[in-house]
Amino acid sequence: MKTVNGKMRELGEKRSVIREIFEYAKVRSAEIGAENVFDFSIGNPSVPAPDCVNEAIERIVRETPSVLLHGYTSAQGDGNVRKTVAEYIRRNFGVPLTADNLYMTCGAAASLTISMHAVASAGEEIITFAPYFTEYKVFAEGAGCTLKVLPSDGKLLPDFSALERAISARTRAVLINSPNNPSGVVYGEDVLRRLAAILEAKQREYGKDIYLIADEPYRELVYDDNMVVPYAMCYYANTLVCYSWSKSLSIPGERIGYIAVNPAMENHQAVYAAVCGAGRSLGYVCAPALLQRVVAACIGMTSDISVYKANRDLFYDALVSYGYEVIHPDGAFYLFVKALEEDASAFCERAKKYELLLVPGDDFGVKGYVRIAYCVAPETIRRALPAFEKLAKEYREGKE
Ligand SMILES: Cc1ncc(COP(=O)(O)O)c(C=O)c1O
Repeated sequence: MKTVNGKMRELGEKRSVIREIFEYAKVRSAEIGAENVFDFSIGNPSVPAPDCVNEAIERIVRETPSVLLHGYTSAQGDGNVRKTVAEYIRRNFGVPLTADNLYMTCGAAASLTISMHAVASAGEEIITFAPYFTEYKVFAEGAGCTLKVLPSDGKLLPDFSALERAISARTRAVLINSPNNPSGVVYGEDVLRRLAAILEAKQREYGKDIYLIADEPYRELVYDDNMVVPYAMCYYANTLVCYSWSKSLSIPGERIGYIAVNPAMENHQAVYAAVCGAGRSLGYVCAPALLQRVVAACIGMTSDISVYKANRDLFYDALVSYGYEVIHPDGAFYLFVKALEEDASAFCERAKKYELLLVPGDDFGVKGYVRIAYCVAPETIRRALPAFEKLAKEYREGKE
């Protein structure tokens, strides 16, 4: 008899709701044609990577000797790459980061799992706010921790009194994600200040370190003029930033990101050592070497974000005009929309009648909402809008 880890088997066998819908879209497309299926399920960037990405790949491949090009870098990432990224962070956010505060990773998912393993021990608690990226629970539990999900307020910003009540002697980290998947909400300075003040006070009360983990794969995807997402390190010393270029450069399949450990942390060297140790323990050493060099060559560049802004405006305005209640997204590429009945899954099933594929919000920790990923061709949105209008009308008229 072959025995395996039951928890891991369950994770492997049970697909996420998003993956289920994504697979359904493929089957349905084969039946009725892809142009007739409106798949808003997955956050795969629809805008091509900027030219600098392919140019850098070609140049680096041409100019770098093969053994060096394809060889291992340091476990924590190439020194020159980390220096370039550190300089970028210093220049843009005013944090005196050096290469020794940075660990290159295989995307934000790896940044998060490594960070959680690095700071938290089995049995401790990691707190986050609903709605949250569904994989957080898997990542936290993988580190032997519990993910405690707290409510947000009516604007989907953190509920600070819930946070004050929830932090206990078992709390090791608070995990935030701004711009947020699935709501598109961006935390302003006031939110970070409040969070920092609460965490400082709780650290004193319990006499222990409580870390802030800022998950930032959507940092550059903000749409209102002059909006800059505040940099969490500037507000709270015990901060780790988990970043990836998956969305900003439209390269999610290339798996490249980093962890930045705030040099203002009293024990930043110990935390960085724990990050390196967690990377080693999880087998996440030496992030893809070619891609490390590519992101350094493209530092500060993004794909054409204006396409997402146009999508947001088109989609948001139309849905509101049909009577949907939509959280106004300042960033990322998702709309969080109130379902037209209490049960969001039942609503998504009804939407399928119109070939609209939406994700129920329950898995993101908020009932009664659906997520719509608008990282799609603008034409797909334009063609889907009449279906959204008919769906709203059907509910208004109470049709079965
Ligand atoms: C909020 C959030 N965090 C982390 C990730 C994982 O990003 P990556 O593909 O870089 O691992 C995603 C991916 O969609 C995300 O939405």
